Amino acid sequence: MQKMTKLILPYGLCIVFICCIGPSPVRAIENSECLECHSDKSLTKESTDNILQSAITVNLYVDEEIFNRSVHNINGITCVDCHSDIEELNFDEEVPHKANLESVHCARCHEEEGEAFKNSVHMEILKKGITMTCYACHGYHDVMQMDTALLAERENNYCLKCHNPYQFHEWLPARESHFAFVECVVCHASAPPQIHLTFIDLVTNKLSKGEEIIKILGIEYDKFMALIDSNKDNIINQDEFDSLILLLRQKNIHASFHAELVADLKPEAHQVKRGAAEKSCEKCHMADSSYFNAVFILITREDGAVDRHEVEREVLESYNLSHFYMMAGTRVKLLDKIGFLLIAGGVAVVLLHFGIRIITIPARRKNDPGKG
Ligand code: HEC
Ligand code: HEC
Ligand code: HEC
Ligand code: HEC
Ligand code: HEC
Ligand code: HEC
Ligand code: HEC
Repeated sequence: MQKMTKLILPYGLCIVFICCIGPSPVRAIENSECLECHSDKSLTKESTDNILQSAITVNLYVDEEIFNRSVHNINGITCVDCHSDIEELNFDEEVPHKANLESVHCARCHEEEGEAFKNSVHMEILKKGITMTCYACHGYHDVMQMDTALLAERENNYCLKCHNPYQFHEWLPARESHFAFVECVVCHASAPPQIHLTFIDLVTNKLSKGEEIIKILGIEYDKFMALIDSNKDNIINQDEFDSLILLLRQKNIHASFHAELVADLKPEAHQVKRGAAEKSCEKCHMADSSYFNAVFILITREDGAVDRHEVEREVLESYNLSHFYMMAGTRVKLLDKIGFLLIAGGVAVVLLHFGIRIITIPARRKNDPGKG
């Protein structure tokens, strides 16, 4: 949420600047003016398909309802912020703007993502004459706030449009589990991983991202932590988590939490490279794997803003989670054993390393007096 308010401000100021002080005081074009025509489902245009070189009909209808729920609309980005080559509308013409508009450059506003994307296998395919746009993955009028998107929403919308993961990964056991609980880019890119917990009603088997749980508890969004975090340290520990489950049970809801291993929303998520994916099981299947350090319960408000509540990783061992008790838990004994052997091996190497370093301290001091 903080991130959003920070961004609204500069854009807001920018608009104020253009309106009040800018050299040519152009009136900002309202979305509703565009939608006068573009909310018409029958509005189309004849064009030629670039690849097939044949005539096609392009639909120019924009679904206002979907656009209104998009992250861009919520953050005050208007039609002409993206379609920025429309500076005014001339209603004397049938087409009140240039008939052929320039394509929208997402990276104009998302510079860091644009840079990170350059460094990926999906940019390399330019050499083969294929351009991959940002919206091949994200879409454009329906870009949603990604924080609380479930894996099914993220991956179905992205990677699975073009790749069938079952064609690869023969070496990976329990592929259904991995594809269901681990986001592709957690293994394929270097964005820091984190665990998202989503409320699930065990009777209806329905996942809920906010509203529902807040309604059941009968509180305001702002009161969630005050209610759950009894020791006021701003992090939900095992006891507090269990009492949340109890509170829900008192309201006749048999609740659990669904856990997913996803990438943090960082530009690095775009750096998918060939042959660089995570393959070592122990990176995740080890008692103190760093992949499970950051755990959050995410709650979406009605206006689309997201509250992130930090949770202690011990909660992952709770029986009140569907799946994910695999860490230090007892249920995946075999994996724990693999994990133990790997830790034992790792510790030995570390001890050896430090042993050598300690032994050689005097020698190193002599060689490098400045650094000690
Ligand atoms: C008076 C009706 C009208 C209004 C108002 C209008 N448009 Fe259009 N728009 C059209 C028509 C008609 C076309 C199809 C042009 C053609 O046939 O080449 C079109 C085409 C487009 C295209 C496709 C251009 C391309 O290169 O393929 C975009 C994008 C677009 N409009 C965006 C907007 C935006 C943004 C606004 C508001 C700032 C807007 N339009 C306002 C009628 C309108
Ligand atoms: C986040 C940026 C963004 C915003 C905001 C946005 N558009 Fe678009 N729009 C795009 C992109 C990207 C395309 C794909 C074609 C392109 O790049 O020119 C597109 C395509 C279109 C088209 C062509 C038909 C289609 O769906 O491909 C129309 C018409 C259009 N936009 C109208 C609008 C109107 C009206 C609004 C405001 C209600 C709007 N756009 C807001 C990015 C945006
Ligand atoms: C005029 C500036 C502008 C343009 C152009 C623009 N965006 Fe955005 N975009 C924003 C702002 C502002 C936000 C909300 C703040 C944030 O989360 O970064 C946002 C948010 C997003 C998010 C959600 C990030 C999150 O935290 O959940 C995605 C994904 C995104 N944009 C993709 C795109 C794509 C794809 C395009 C091109 C079709 C595009 N943007 C064009 C300004 C822009
Ligand atoms: C190959 C698919 C793909 C393409 C192409 C792509 N993205 Fe992303 N984008 C992702 C994934 C995956 C994430 C990470 C979110 C997640 O963990 O689900 C992401 C996250 C984002 C975010 C939110 C995270 C952040 O850094 O704030 C923005 C904004 C964004 N992308 C913009 C862009 C822009 C701009 C482009 C074009 C230069 C682009 N994306 C191209 C897949 C893609
Ligand atoms: C719009 C289609 C499209 C989407 C969406 C897409 N990719 Fe790709 N991907 C490609 C193409 C095309 C290549 C290049 C294949 C080649 O060079 O033979 C590629 C290459 C790759 C490669 C290298 C594999 C190889 O065969 O060399 C990996 C790994 C990969 N993508 C992962 C992902 C991930 C992870 C996502 C989701 C974040 C994703 N892709 C989304 C089209 C896509
Ligand atoms: C547990 C980690 C992991 C997960 C999860 C995962 N991958 Fe992979 N994937 C790999 C590894 C390791 C390879 C072998 C090639 C490499 O090292 O990049 C690979 C290979 C691929 C390839 C072929 C690349 C090549 O060079 O042959 C594609 C395409 C791909 N993955 C896409 C996906 C998609 C899409 C998803 C999500 C549904 C996904 N992967 C989930 C680890 C993973
Ligand atoms: C990026 C982290 C990651 C990597 C790398 C990884 N896994 Fe997993 N694995 C997971 C997650 C998360 C689950 C789902 C946990 C659950 O179902 O509770 C899982 C599930 C499993 C399961 C099924 C457990 C069950 O109870 O359903 C097995 C077996 C497994 N992994 C073995 C492996 C092996 C063997 C490797 C190496 C070839 C590997 N994993 C690599 C994260 C990872």
